[in-house]
Amino acid sequence: MSRDSAHRPSRVGPATTPGHRAGPLDIDALLDDPATGIIVCCGSGGVGKTTTSAALALRAAERGRKVVVLTIDPARRLAQSMGIEALDNTPRPVTGVEGGGHLDAMMLDMKRTFDEVVLSQASPEKAKQILANPFYIALSSSFAGTQEYMAMEKLGQIHRDAQAAGTYDLIVVDTPPSRSALDFLDAPERLSSFLDGRFVRMLLMPAKGPAKLMTAGIGLITNALTKILGAQFLKDLQTFVTALDTVFGGFRQRAQQTYALLKADGTAFLVVAAPEADALREAEYFVERLSEDDMPLAGLVVNRASPEPGGDLSAEEAMTAAERLRRTGDGALTAGLLRLHADRVRMVERERTLRDRFATAHPQVATAVVPALASDVHDLDGLRRVGDLLARRH
Ligand SMILES: Nc1ncnc2c1ncn2[C@@H]1O[C@H](COP(=O)(O)OP(=O)(O)O)[C@@H](O)[C@H]1O
Ligand SMILES: [Mg+2]
Repeated sequence: MSRDSAHRPSRVGPATTPGHRAGPLDIDALLDDPATGIIVCCGSGGVGKTTTSAALALRAAERGRKVVVLTIDPARRLAQSMGIEALDNTPRPVTGVEGGGHLDAMMLDMKRTFDEVVLSQASPEKAKQILANPFYIALSSSFAGTQEYMAMEKLGQIHRDAQAAGTYDLIVVDTPPSRSALDFLDAPERLSSFLDGRFVRMLLMPAKGPAKLMTAGIGLITNALTKILGAQFLKDLQTFVTALDTVFGGFRQRAQQTYALLKADGTAFLVVAAPEADALREAEYFVERLSEDDMPLAGLVVNRASPEPGGDLSAEEAMTAAERLRRTGDGALTAGLLRLHADRVRMVERERTLRDRFATAHPQVATAVVPALASDVHDLDGLRRVGDLLARRH
């Protein structure tokens, strides 16, 4: 497939041809293109990122690709049906995949990923010290952005392994349910600035350099801190920061590599959103943020859209008919059904207006619309159905 076919992710910018609209997203072309190596599903919490990631991964596998999906917080039953309810941080084969491809799935264990990095970077003795440090324990399980950071780290790891061993040709990545969208783009930067911050530098100094380098000022501050925080606390903190500095040199560099990987041509971002005003506004923010970082955007997925009601009765016609029935006192049930129909038609129209508004603001973003299914998506059949709907172009 040619590199410049219509589905290729675009670097979204203002410099598009006026009047050009990207239209429907061609999911199958994206999944089938051997040049697509990474798909990242992002969006605010609860919109269907995990479901979309799993559905895309399954579809790609069933169309013949060697796929791994990295999920963050799959709903319990979905995880069970994919064989990943155990958090062991290793991709496991999903059983029941049809066709010639292959699907592995894993659920990200943030703390474990962190531990793995420490174990791979520090000497066994030093690693043991770090893993037992109270600050490390707190940071690895709760530092703002750690989950985002670890998702990046795991993506980098899997990508390196896949390249070395040829295990996968497509990695589908789910992103954490962060309130501040796209935190994972900021995470390496945030971590770096934390480590390069003055407070951390200051703590590093006494441990690192000869004592005479420690200025009287810093000595005073350290003494004050010792009084306030207690000697053990400060000692733990120093050990921790020193250790991090050793470990994180490589960490930072890898984060930068992963960031570059996200920007590369083989990557495609999909922004997932609910068909609501707030959600689509947030999706616009995502699209703009991706564009600022020059990340390749493949399109927008509007998930859980209201299903189109059957028939061609308009909302007005249905309401007029319902009103007539109400006046004659006949057919209360029919009148109720007509009103329900009118509500559904209006809802579908409202959602279409919202999508049109988005498309006008971002004409270059191709869109897929996935209607809400009658029930939650918790097994491979459900994922297949979502996959079919994603690939349906209309
Ligand atoms: N198109 C859909 N139809 C019906 N249920 C859906 C659909 N998409 C997602 N869901 C359900 O919505 C819930 C949230 O989806 P999930 O993918 O976990 O969202 P996120 O990962 O964005 O937080 C899940 O219970 C999932 O089964
Ligand atoms: Mg999720």
